[in-house]
Amino acid sequence: MPGTELYQKEFFIKGGDFDKAGEVSTEIKSILKSVGINSDIVRKVAIATFEAEMNVVIHANEGDLKFILTPVEIRITVKDKGKGIEDIELAMKEGYSTATEEMREMGFGAGMGLPNIKKNADGFELTSEVGVGTLLKITIRHKKA
Ligand SMILES: Nc1ncnc2c1ncn2[C@@H]1O[C@H](COP(=O)(O)OP(=O)(O)OP(=O)(O)O)[C@@H](O)[C@H]1O
Ligand SMILES: [Mg+2]
Repeated sequence: MPGTELYQKEFFIKGGDFDKAGEVSTEIKSILKSVGINSDIVRKVAIATFEAEMNVVIHANEGDLKFILTPVEIRITVKDKGKGIEDIELAMKEGYSTATEEMREMGFGAGMGLPNIKKNADGFELTSEVGVGTLLKITIRHKKA
């Protein structure tokens, strides 16, 4: 059954926690490697997950990242609580960023995260409610259905 869940795990992401930032994508990467997922696919998932995780750390208060591995695809859902995104189309533009000077000094704020997530994903859905939070759903296929 192509849609059957093989493995799933949920991670909590705390806004502003730069010490732990990147840990979720690192763990997902090692899970995928350990079950023998092709390295090109692992790289795509790692990039997309890292960017999604960092967006919660940088732009939101807290979030949950849900990771599901099925026989055909990897599903990543990130639901956060925070300021939300007013204009999704604008946020998706390469180079658009509202990151502060402080964040830019840390190497973030190129405005490339969301475009890179989309590039690396087969399925991409981004919805947001201003003052409430943001929901990002991506899928990356690892086997031809
Ligand atoms: N989870 C989120 N909550 C609120 N705003 C967000 C969220 N994710 C993205 N944004 C908004 O969309 C903009 C673009 O996001 P994107 O990830 O492309 O760039 P960035 O995070 O600013 O910089 P980079 O990812 O290159 O470090 C952000 O600057 C921010 O305004
Ligand atoms: Mg980003």
